[in-house]
Amino acid sequence: NPEVFILAIESSCDDTAAAILQNDKVLSNVVANQLIHAQYGGVVPELASRAHQQNIVPVIDAALRKANIQKEQLSAIAFTQGPGLMGSLLVGSSFAKSLALALKIPLIAVNHMHAHILAHFIDEEGFDKPTFPFLALTISGGHTQIVKVNDFFDLTIIGETTDDAVGEAFDKSAKILGLPYPGGPLVDKYAQLGNPKAFVFTKPKVPGLDFSFSGLKTAILYFIQKKKLENPNFIEENLNDICASIQFTIIEILMDKLKLAVKETGIKQIAIGGGVSANSGIRKTLKETENKYGWKTFIPKFEYTTDNAAMIGIVGYQKFLTEIFETSSVVSKARIQF
Ligand code: KG4
Ligand code: ZN
Repeated sequence: NPEVFILAIESSCDDTAAAILQNDKVLSNVVANQLIHAQYGGVVPELASRAHQQNIVPVIDAALRKANIQKEQLSAIAFTQGPGLMGSLLVGSSFAKSLALALKIPLIAVNHMHAHILAHFIDEEGFDKPTFPFLALTISGGHTQIVKVNDFFDLTIIGETTDDAVGEAFDKSAKILGLPYPGGPLVDKYAQLGNPKAFVFTKPKVPGLDFSFSGLKTAILYFIQKKKLENPNFIEENLNDICASIQFTIIEILMDKLKLAVKETGIKQIAIGGGVSANSGIRKTLKETENKYGWKTFIPKFEYTTDNAAMIGIVGYQKFLTEIFETSSVVSKARIQF
């Protein structure tokens, strides 16, 4: 088998990322975070595309340099086609198209959610790969999905959120508590010091394997407003317990659906991905299912869990092997199915 070198570009939201893969191994994985959004309490699309425009050339140069690869050695270029913010996607796709044309190499379009799932197939010491079929739980700031993965290109969404994503549930709860954006990691941090049973928030009743998180956010808002009327320092005095209780509820919601998905499909291999899988409570709870229910769980290396280009590269590699290529008339898509 000849060596395949893929340059992968990810620019779907607020991170500009580039990676070089040699077959299924990552040679470099560079991410430029856009700190500008924190002061606005969320990603501002117009600012995101402008920052991608500024970052993309240095990020790709850095990825090539770190991998010690010349452009001329590349076998193909993979980019995120969607889902994501249109202005952000266009920066990555335009760059990928031009470079592929200039180098006369194949162009590969990658679905960001597909990439979060196939990230488990990056060859990385100390990390096992799932075998088909398995269930993927993709939890990020933009998505919440349970996907039945039969093969690299045979995936079925069996459950997804009907409103907010899990990451939004974390970030919006954090905002209610006055924490800066993105609040998910902070809720996690305080939750580790608190009592998860201190406060009870009702879980939404959603049929089947779908999720809903907007009701939880509203319940938390009303709860905090009421408590603050009684005690203006309620948040400050109970921050750890509030965070622990919110996180506990979110994990329960996820676990209830996962248990149902395992029951319905008979599949006990669970692979998680997306930024929220960095959550320490989720990791711990999932690990516990191995002894408790005989599940086998897979959590990728942290840098392949949050938005990154290495995961785009591994889908690119699989598509290269199967020769699934695009012409430069391929279009970016804000919404996209598998
Ligand atoms: O996958 P990702 O980097 O970007 C998206 O595609 O959305 O996910 C970002 C999301 C944010 O909502 C962030 O608050 C959340 O992941 N997040 C966490 C943690 N680390 C990141 N949520 C809870 N606990 C964490 N430790
Ligand atoms: Zn993502």
